[in-house]
Amino acid sequence: MSGLLDLVGGTPLVTLRSGVHAKLEYLNPGGSVKDRAALAMVLDAESSGALCPGGTIVEGTSGNTGLGLAQVAAARGYRMVCVLPDKTAVEKLDALRAYGAEVVLTPSALPKEHPNHVVAWAARIARETDGGWWADQYGNPANPAVHFRTTGPEIWEATSGRITHLVATIGTGGTISGTGRFLKEASDGRVQVIGADPATSSYGGGDGSPFAIEAAGHYVHPKTVDDPWPDSYHRDVVDAVVSVPDRASITACRSLARDEGLLVGGSSGTAYAVASSVTGDCVVVLLPDSGRAYLTKYHSDTWVRRQGFVDGELAGLASPVVSVPVGTPVAEARRVLEESGQPALPVVLAGRSDRFPPAAGEVLALVTFADLTAGTVGPAAVPPVGLGVGESVADALDRFPDGEVAHLVRDGRLAGLVTRADLSSGR
Ligand SMILES: Cc1ncc(COP(=O)(O)O)c(C=O)c1O
Repeated sequence: MSGLLDLVGGTPLVTLRSGVHAKLEYLNPGGSVKDRAALAMVLDAESSGALCPGGTIVEGTSGNTGLGLAQVAAARGYRMVCVLPDKTAVEKLDALRAYGAEVVLTPSALPKEHPNHVVAWAARIARETDGGWWADQYGNPANPAVHFRTTGPEIWEATSGRITHLVATIGTGGTISGTGRFLKEASDGRVQVIGADPATSSYGGGDGSPFAIEAAGHYVHPKTVDDPWPDSYHRDVVDAVVSVPDRASITACRSLARDEGLLVGGSSGTAYAVASSVTGDCVVVLLPDSGRAYLTKYHSDTWVRRQGFVDGELAGLASPVVSVPVGTPVAEARRVLEESGQPALPVVLAGRSDRFPPAAGEVLALVTFADLTAGTVGPAAVPPVGLGVGESVADALDRFPDGEVAHLVRDGRLAGLVTRADLSSGR
C-alpha cells in the first residue's frame, strides 16, 4: 500500500512503432508531468518552513501545475488558490474546483508588467494572505531539481544508459533542464538534449506571438517591455531548440492517438514531431499530458478545420492580406484599404513583427469603408469570426458572420478574405 503522492513519478517508458521511446507522464496521478514539480515545490516549502500546516498554496497558471498543486493541497490539507487567465477552458476551471481549489480569473491579454497579470496577482495574493505561499514554478529551483532527481535517473535506468537523445518541450523549462542535466552528467556529455518548441515561441527564435500549443513555448505580449526567460529554464543544458509549426504538432498529436494508441496533448505532439525525425540509437521523448483535456481542441475534427490546421474546400481562397494595427488613424486606414483593393481591412493587435501573418486571435475587427468615419480604428465589440480553410463551403456559409466579408484562418493565422458571394458562387 502507498499514499497517493507516492505514485508521482516512476512513469513507464514505452517503445513506439517508430522505434522512439516515449515517457508517459500522463500516467502520473494528477495526469501530467507537473505532478512532479508540484509535489517537490510543496515538500521543499514545508521543509524550509515557507509553507506551514493550515497554510494556503497560491499559483498563477493556466494548466497542469495548478492541477498538480490542487491535488497535493487536497492530499496534504492545504487551502489552494489558483489565478488563471479568463480564457482558460471551463473544463480546467471545473477540474481545479473539483479538487477544492479556489479559482481567481484575470483578463487573458495583459502584459507581464500589469498588476493583474496571472503571475503578479498570484504573488500578491500569497503576500496578502496569512500563511500564504506562492509556488512560483518559473523561479522555484525545486522545479528543475525534481527532474534531475527523478525523471533523469528513471530514463537512464529504463534505457540501461543507452539513451542518445532526449526530446522535450520547454514551458517553465523545468523538465528539460533537470532531466537533461542529469542525462548529460550521467553520460559524460554524450546525450544530446533537444528542445521542441511551438511555431512562434521565442525559445526557438520566434517573435513570441500566439501559437496553438498550450503549456509549452514562450508567448510574449506585445506591450511587455522586459521579458527574460524563466530561471527554471537552463539554456546551457540544451543542445538545440527545434521550432515546430503548429500544424505539424497537431498532426503528430493526432497520429499518436490513431497510430500508437496514445491519447496525449498538443505539447506531446510538438515533442514527438521532433523526436520522430531525429536519427539516433536511442531516442527518448517526454509526453507531458493526456489528450483528455483537449478533446474539443487538437483531437476535434471541427476545431482543426476551423483553425485551418487541415486544408479543405476553402484552402484555394487563401491569399495574403493587408491589415492595420489597432489605433491607426481612420484616414490612414482608408488609404490602406483603398490601395489594397480588398473588400475589408483587418484591424490587428499593435506591436507585432511582420515576420508571421497576424494570429487569428489577434484580429480584433474587420472594417469596411462604411466603418471608417472618424478617429482611429479600434477593436470590435465582439471579435470577428474567422472561417477555417479546412471547412466545407456549406459549413462556412452556415457560420458566415454578419456582413458580406469574412476573414480566413489557416494554421491559426489570418490567411485571406472571402465574401459571401465567393462562397455562394462556389468559386
Ligand atoms: C502539457 C504540458 N506540456 C509541456 C509543459 C512544459 O514543461 P516544463 O514547464 O517543465 O518546461 C507543461 C508544463 O506545464 C505542460 O503542462
